[in-house]
Amino acid sequence: MPSCVHPAVPPGSLSISAQPILAAGAFRLRPWRLTDVAGLVSVYAESDIQRWHARSMTEVEAARWVERAGSAWAEETEASWAVEVRGALAGRMTLKLDLTEGCASTAYWTRADYRGSGLAPRALVVASDWAFSIGMRRVELEHSTRNSASCRVASKAGFVAEGIRRDGALHADGWHDMHVHSRLARERPVQ
Ligand SMILES: CC(C)(COP(=O)(O)OP(=O)(O)OC[C@H]1O[C@@H](n2cnc3c(N)ncnc32)[C@H](O)[C@@H]1OP(=O)(O)O)[C@@H](O)C(=O)NCCC(=O)NCCS
Repeated sequence: MPSCVHPAVPPGSLSISAQPILAAGAFRLRPWRLTDVAGLVSVYAESDIQRWHARSMTEVEAARWVERAGSAWAEETEASWAVEVRGALAGRMTLKLDLTEGCASTAYWTRADYRGSGLAPRALVVASDWAFSIGMRRVELEHSTRNSASCRVASKAGFVAEGIRRDGALHADGWHDMHVHSRLARERPVQ
């Protein structure tokens, strides 16, 4: 049956270009590369990352993860960046893209030695501003109700709290209620 609506972002409009590098003062968001594999393995060995992202990563899995990030850009399903501070891997910012609905959902972390300086919220603002610039209308984020640091990231990046998805995600210690936030294109830019 033909669709009665037009996609928010026309299919094919992203993959005709290389994934952008988003520079923002002291840090930048750049596509993943195979030289990140060792960094990814060490990040996913951290207990906080395993707790909130519910996985660890071997070298082989990390290499596949990097390759998948590249193919997901080509398929227009995801834009995933390494957050780099002075050339070093400091974090991750990923937007899962639904171009038809104009909606992106986020996943992020900051390496333990870079936490506490506002890196994740600033990277989130940069990534969501980019999403709005290509025509997306909503960026959403959800975190376990037990992850107060991630809730602070959402607030600092100007994401409005919307509600709780009960038993929304399975973690190693069982089901967690998930707190949902969003930022809309029509809302004022974050200062
Ligand atoms: C949640 C996380 C992404 C925040 O990243 P960040 O770059 O440190 O963000 P901020 O500097 O804005 O800190 C956010 C909150 O983390 C907490 N925090 C501050 N310093 C911290 C540190 N050294 N270590 C851990 N948490 C710290 C504080 O509650 C802070 O809020 P505040 O600024 O109001 O005090 C990061 O702690 C992380 O990667 N945690 C593990 C993975 C994770 O939770 N991912 C998100 C899943 S939804």
